[in-house]
Amino acid sequence: MENSIKVLALFLLLPLLYVPANGHKIVCYYDSASSLREHPNQLTTSNLALALRFCSHLIYGYAGIRADNYQAHSLNEQLDVQQHQFFEVTALKRHYPGLKVLLSVGGDRDIDGEHPNKYIDLLEGGYDKQIEFIKSAHLLVKNYGFDGLDLAYQFPKNKPRKVHSLLGKAWKAVKKLGTGDFIVDPKAEQHKNQFTSLVRSASDKLRQDDFLLSLTVLPNVNSTWYFDVPVINDLVDFVNIAAFDFVTPERNPEEADYPAPLFKDESHERLSHYNADFQTQYWLDQRFDEKRIILGIPSYGNAWKLTKDSGETGKPIVSKTNGPAPPGPYLNKAGVRSLPEICLLLESPNKPVTKADLLTGEVNKYGSYVLSSKDLNTERIWVGYDNLETVKFKTAFSVRYLGGIALFDLGSDDFQGSCFNEKFPILHTIIQQVQGQYPIDPIV
Ligand SMILES: *[C@@H]1O[C@H](CO)[C@@H](O)[C@H](O)[C@H]1NC(C)=O
Repeated sequence: MENSIKVLALFLLLPLLYVPANGHKIVCYYDSASSLREHPNQLTTSNLALALRFCSHLIYGYAGIRADNYQAHSLNEQLDVQQHQFFEVTALKRHYPGLKVLLSVGGDRDIDGEHPNKYIDLLEGGYDKQIEFIKSAHLLVKNYGFDGLDLAYQFPKNKPRKVHSLLGKAWKAVKKLGTGDFIVDPKAEQHKNQFTSLVRSASDKLRQDDFLLSLTVLPNVNSTWYFDVPVINDLVDFVNIAAFDFVTPERNPEEADYPAPLFKDESHERLSHYNADFQTQYWLDQRFDEKRIILGIPSYGNAWKLTKDSGETGKPIVSKTNGPAPPGPYLNKAGVRSLPEICLLLESPNKPVTKADLLTGEVNKYGSYVLSSKDLNTERIWVGYDNLETVKFKTAFSVRYLGGIALFDLGSDDFQGSCFNEKFPILHTIIQQVQGQYPIDPIV
């Protein structure tokens, strides 16, 4: 009851016209954690409604897997079930008839210290356990009014390593020798086959009810190891490739670099697969339908603490960094900064941040960065992020070569409009680029 009043109120308040995107998919991720922040940093359902006229798909997360019986379940039943957030989110479709709302499982949010391997255990657990998972996931989708399921499956990640040092070169030599140092998962081939069976069963089940099935390839999960792309092509509706967090302060505490480059910057010895172009090209090469490949971009930046040996310029690759920067005021999370938190860093004492500050970027193929101003009392930090110029560029790339773009996550775009009075500036930039409002051509 209370729920329907809220939804009704939303309906009356907002002129909710869907903004056409010429068939290009705009996939918006909504991590429910951002609805749990304290006011005013909380992303509420009414904030969300403002964004949804720009989204073709909303992916709500996250559900997880129960280690005892492998059933899919909400990771926060209090919020999703008792407080009806599942229903509130799917009810938003009434105002956006074209919007599809999917429930996502995994997403690196289903962290279970006692059962760190449960995703792999489910793969190895055979048909019966997999069916148990699929039946329960299907029920969640059906009972709460979702349009489909997204599997943001948690696979072992590739190992971080220094990207440009001599050490990196030595590592390459080791790899060539085949000593096995880099083998993260000796049974990757087997897990790939098992995952394909899981996806096939899930697809069979969901298609009976015309539900959608998508995949999210999580950051630093190597597609070559776990995705049988040509087979999966026939089983899923689309795939979202989270092409960011290639370099993070947790994985790479001692050196900071652009976290989500579109292309490889040849000016340093960087790894050839740490960029969005490589990651999406892999799926294209394996003949996955290009119209169903979605490029995932971040709305947040990665933030490192600098030391006095990190130098003054901030030009990446920045060496001698000291792990994650302390939390910012809104997201309150070490090592990351949301767009409004980045705006605070860009702002100087007598000049508020303008859109132009977020647009200037001669380095837009790789990303942008901001260095906190020098203050004797605090440690300096360095944040690598996608500014609006980079967002335009990546969107143009997705329009030209792929089927859509995915934003991770609505909760770190500037949904309050605190940067320069525009709500969801990243999402806006995406839709404007999709509609061809900026003439950018990302020819390689
Ligand atoms: C997966 O890892 C191997 C190295 O182990 C690398 O050669 C390959 O390019 C990676 N594939 C992707 C899609 O990242």
